[in-house]
Amino acid sequence: MRVLVVGSGGREHALCWAIARSPLLEKLWCAPGNAGIAEVAECVAIGATDVPALVAFARAQKVDLVLPGPEAPLVAGLADALDAAGIPCCGPVAAAARLEGSKTFTKEICDAAGIPTAAWRRFTDAAAAHAYARAQGAPIVVKADGLAAGKGVVVAATLAEAEAAITDFMESGTLGEAGRSVVIEECLVGEEVSVFALCDGTHALFLGAAQDHKRVGDGDTGPNTGGMGAYAPPPVLTEARRAEVMERFIAPTLAEMARRGTPFRGFLFAGLMNTAAGLKLIEYNVRFGDPECQAVMPLLASDLLPLLRAACAGKLAGLEVRWQAGAALAVVLAARGYPGKPLKGTAIRGLERAAAIPGVHVFHAGTRREGERLVADGGRVLAVCAAAPDLRAARAAAYRAVDVIDWPEGFCRRDIGWRALARKD
Ligand code: AMP
Ligand code: GLY
Repeated sequence: MRVLVVGSGGREHALCWAIARSPLLEKLWCAPGNAGIAEVAECVAIGATDVPALVAFARAQKVDLVLPGPEAPLVAGLADALDAAGIPCCGPVAAAARLEGSKTFTKEICDAAGIPTAAWRRFTDAAAAHAYARAQGAPIVVKADGLAAGKGVVVAATLAEAEAAITDFMESGTLGEAGRSVVIEECLVGEEVSVFALCDGTHALFLGAAQDHKRVGDGDTGPNTGGMGAYAPPPVLTEARRAEVMERFIAPTLAEMARRGTPFRGFLFAGLMNTAAGLKLIEYNVRFGDPECQAVMPLLASDLLPLLRAACAGKLAGLEVRWQAGAALAVVLAARGYPGKPLKGTAIRGLERAAAIPGVHVFHAGTRREGERLVADGGRVLAVCAAAPDLRAARAAAYRAVDVIDWPEGFCRRDIGWRALARKD
């Protein structure tokens, strides 16, 4: 098969790496890719949201399947344009990508399909939003309704924080259009887990689960990031809870999306909180998680490519996914300054030594080549991942690999996996 992956992060490197192992693969491209992806795919200089150029490229190269990594191209209509061109795309059309693009839309789907989620209300009037927040009290969560690149959610511990967020989003317009309407919701308390389902519009297959670490600092401190590390499988997602996610969350969501005439195809990412009252949906994303993908892919024993093809063809029913025993853990190396303004252009050395450690895979997230040198070119720069017979061994191998990488301007959290390793059960 001739395959085009869209994106340039660690998730796309892990997806390309998994696809590159497939005996069905004839040729793999990635647009725009990065220096690590270039080792397993041919990188093409087309931006991830340049829909017309991506479609033209896929048509010219007779691509059999397009896999978009991030949400932006999907929200921008890449799947719609590929559908129109008759090119299979393993991702949802824009109307179905609203599951990520609009918080209100997701909440309406939850209500219509009876999916457990935080109690919520939507506001377009700032005064009404302030009054509601005051009436509910803290802690409370304020979310910009639209896509805000991870900056649109404030989990407010105090009423003052909640009110400041409402003012920022609705009155000061710090997020532009995305914040013109907000969703204010109940604050859920518990352990968070990311669950992935591959969907074909009607059926879904469990495609892994992981736990992310969103805060920049050890002990879950400091500002939120795109994710500083992940491990799989998460012990909180017992066999019973995994079945519950597929039956009580994913299946009714697919049914409701199909009923509305916008069946969901591609990766559906359920962000869930395991609360005292059971699992509740925090959010859906219409793509794989990053860095969760980097921890899940090394454990996948099945060939990914036929699964993606079946998802595009509406033929997932009856297929099975096989997994390797053990666990995997990914540590993100970020450039100093992240998640603010990361330092770019600094040299990274020693990746070969890291990759030589058994079970270790170094996925690139924000790198580029400058002649012979590999340099940092983003906030999150590498995801150093290790698979091993258990999580403790995976963590030890991942940090051993981190420690042989020579990059003084990079940093990472030293406690990835702490929740699972601290469990008593
Ligand atoms: P989102 O952008 O929706 O992924 O939210 C970012 C993060 O905010 C989530 O991963 C959670 O950690 C947190 N969060 C979102 N909604 C809630 C909620 N209702 N209660 C508690 N935490 C939340
Ligand atoms: N790691 C969380 C996300 O991909 O949204």
